[in-house]
Amino acid sequence: MTPYVADPVYLDGRFLPLAEARISPLDRGFLFGDGVYEVIPVYSRRPFRLEQHLARLQATLDGVRLVNPLPLGAWREIIDRLIAAAPWNDQSIYLQVTRGADDKRDQAFPAATLPATVLAFASPLITADSEVRERGVSAITVPDLRWGRCDLKVVSLVANVLARQQAADAACAESIFLRAGWLTEGSASNIFIVKAGVLLAPPKDALILPGVTYDVVLELAAARGVPCDLRPVSEAELRAADEVWMTSSTKEVLPITRLDGMAVGTGFPGPLGRAMGDWYQEYKQNVMRQG
Ligand code: PDD
Repeated sequence: MTPYVADPVYLDGRFLPLAEARISPLDRGFLFGDGVYEVIPVYSRRPFRLEQHLARLQATLDGVRLVNPLPLGAWREIIDRLIAAAPWNDQSIYLQVTRGADDKRDQAFPAATLPATVLAFASPLITADSEVRERGVSAITVPDLRWGRCDLKVVSLVANVLARQQAADAACAESIFLRAGWLTEGSASNIFIVKAGVLLAPPKDALILPGVTYDVVLELAAARGVPCDLRPVSEAELRAADEVWMTSSTKEVLPITRLDGMAVGTGFPGPLGRAMGDWYQEYKQNVMRQG
């Protein structure tokens, strides 16, 4: 069986087998979910938009007042070494930083001298196969019960976990969050809709994660002359959309063809979603894989 995590993993300055990696039970990531993370797709052993992912990591660290434990060059070296050691050409690199393991349980920050815990590992990149892309996937809507800083990629993900499980219980691929009648995003993806040929998505603000794939989709749309409007999208607009897509580093661009048991548009992937899926795959072959 293909392992989910390649050996070695990186933990606090050392490369070691996963089976030997140990974290204290007093780690603040474990006790409080007091940590941040990143997921970086790797195509043909080339990390995609590494600078943007490391910039988003820095923005999240700043947002939770955690000092970046490593300079940019050290992050790059760790990532390069994990990629080189992993057996797959396409990978997903996971990075996590927590506020460390103190000698007591206290919500207030530990002494600034306490070292952060740093974990990184490589997994195989599992994207949707072409059959799923052709058919589209089902999603449900759920109330967005998360906090007010969803732009930060923090490991306190219980609300996302519950939402994603609600989707799994309903045999759906994703849950779409609605906050006070407005679309925010998916439990682990950004959401786009299409209405009358216009691509619509909520703008980047504190209520959604600034997705790297979101940026790629908007760049591809701009390059192809697709009209785009980044503005709040209401629940009514989501339900009346001609097309709905989810995007993320691992799901790429995936049409959602059923929402809460109802067909989205025709119930099949729409023309713009199909085109965007093709442009994304083309971009992956011609740009992402070439570095
Ligand atoms: N999730 N919104 C949320 C809540 C996410 O968790 C993600 C990604 C995205 C899309 O971001 P990007 O395009 O940069 O992958 C949007 C990752 C893949 C995860 O948690 O596993």
